[in-house]
Amino acid sequence: MIPNHEKILDSVRLVDYPTPFFYTSRSVLKHNYNTFAHLFDGSEVYYAVKANSDPLILGYLAQLGSGFEAASSYEIDLLLKLGINPAKIIYGTSVKPPQHIKHAVANGIERFAADSQEELDKIAQHAPGAKVFIRTIVDDTGSVFTFSERFGAPIETVKGLILWAKHLELKTYGISFHVGSQATNENRWSNAITMLRPIIEDLARDGISLEVLDIGGGFPVAYYNHQNVPHLPEIVSHVRNSLHMLSYMPKIIMEPGRGIVASSTVLVTSVISRTVRAGKVWLVLDAGIYNALYEAMIHQGLTQYNVHPFNEQPGGETMHATLAGPTGDSLDIIAREVELPAYIDVGDKLIFENAGAYTVTMSSPFNGFPKPELYIS
Ligand SMILES: Cc1ncc(COP(=O)(O)O)c(C=O)c1O
Repeated sequence: MIPNHEKILDSVRLVDYPTPFFYTSRSVLKHNYNTFAHLFDGSEVYYAVKANSDPLILGYLAQLGSGFEAASSYEIDLLLKLGINPAKIIYGTSVKPPQHIKHAVANGIERFAADSQEELDKIAQHAPGAKVFIRTIVDDTGSVFTFSERFGAPIETVKGLILWAKHLELKTYGISFHVGSQATNENRWSNAITMLRPIIEDLARDGISLEVLDIGGGFPVAYYNHQNVPHLPEIVSHVRNSLHMLSYMPKIIMEPGRGIVASSTVLVTSVISRTVRAGKVWLVLDAGIYNALYEAMIHQGLTQYNVHPFNEQPGGETMHATLAGPTGDSLDIIAREVELPAYIDVGDKLIFENAGAYTVTMSSPFNGFPKPELYIS
């Protein structure tokens, strides 16, 4: 899942922008998009905009042919401003403000997720005749970010919701699920399909066939503290086996966010302070939890990124350092016990790998530290 990561490190070391900055590789984005685009016959990718909505990334993915999963009218506007065809956009959040549904329809978006009768009623009112896909709860245990408490219909209600959608004269487009972001169990997607099989077959007996099965996102990335995540080919082989058990094959669509964008982007920061506190080396950086690395926060997954010196000098002594961000908040600690060359000091730069997902979009200017600029090459 992390192709060309040496290449992105090599190429970022050739640039000299003011820190902090994100640096995205088109070739990694292309590799990742193409990998997802070719997983299943006729499948389609709807990149989850929430993972990274930088216009340079969205524009490039659009050029590659990607579709987009939007979560609000704000994200929809961002996509439309880039000239993206509304036919390539799905509205994948299953709970939406009524005005956002109206705005989406007025701008040509036709496909909406729903996970309750009330949401279907809302869609029927504001987007009569729209295509709907029912999001169901699936087992998301083991995923770093779970969604089943907030989103999805209990599986036993899915058929009733599809029938209700028909009653409301909505078009029943399919079923979707999300196994949770940064899933760590390779069977989560296939288990979800196996669990849905009786519902899909039951609907088929009633003459309702699904146009699509939307297997969502959740595809994991090998962060420093998640080296042993399942690889895409393993996940896909399980999914294929579960699909072969179905009596017909709906089109497979996917909404990957992290899996496409994380490894495409690195963050480059500078050390602004080096001190020793309670016997430990502390390196304070010009980017931190708030403006760049939200998921490293303790309540947000505690994602640990691989960190490399920008100017690598082979060999030499190493040290273990605590890395903190520039704000005045004690939560702004990015990582502890990070092994780095002992020479790293004020003015030296560090590179955080796999920093493309849920970084740019989560940035907050706390204490005034702005979102780092993103460059693409
Ligand atoms: C509806 C929906 N689709 C797709 C995604 C993308 O998930 P991931 O980045 O784990 O692939 C999310 C993540 O929150 C989501 O809520």
